[in-house]
Amino acid sequence: MKGLLVYVFLLSIGFAKPEGQVVFENSCLRCHQPDSKKPLSYLQKKYKGKAQEVVELAKRCPWGRGLSDLEIELVSRWIAGD
Ligand code: HEC
Repeated sequence: MKGLLVYVFLLSIGFAKPEGQVVFENSCLRCHQPDSKKPLSYLQKKYKGKAQEVVELAKRCPWGRGLSDLEIELVSRWIAGD
């Protein structure tokens, strides 16, 4: 938790937020909350380095509808840590 706070602090003073994170917060976080069955930490672990799999899921699943290809690409790469 402390590490997270430091990270958020560094982000806010040093860098702009990655665009993929913004998409996630706007379109995904409401269902993938930290106390949900599939929180972000779970997705990041399972899909580390597998952005393409997230892209394909997003195109098949209801939650991907309404997002542009670019948004899907950004959020998938962000989750995968690419
Ligand atoms: C309306 C709620 C909702 C929204 C919004 C949503 N999801 Fe999900 N997502 C779910 C649920 C529920 C599951 C589990 C489906 C299952 O396992 O059958 C899931 C599963 C997933 C999975 C697969 C997890 C696994 O176990 O392999 C990924 C990846 C994922 N979501 C990414 C995203 C991304 C990226 C977004 C935003 C673009 C997003 N989700 C938005 C509800 C949502």
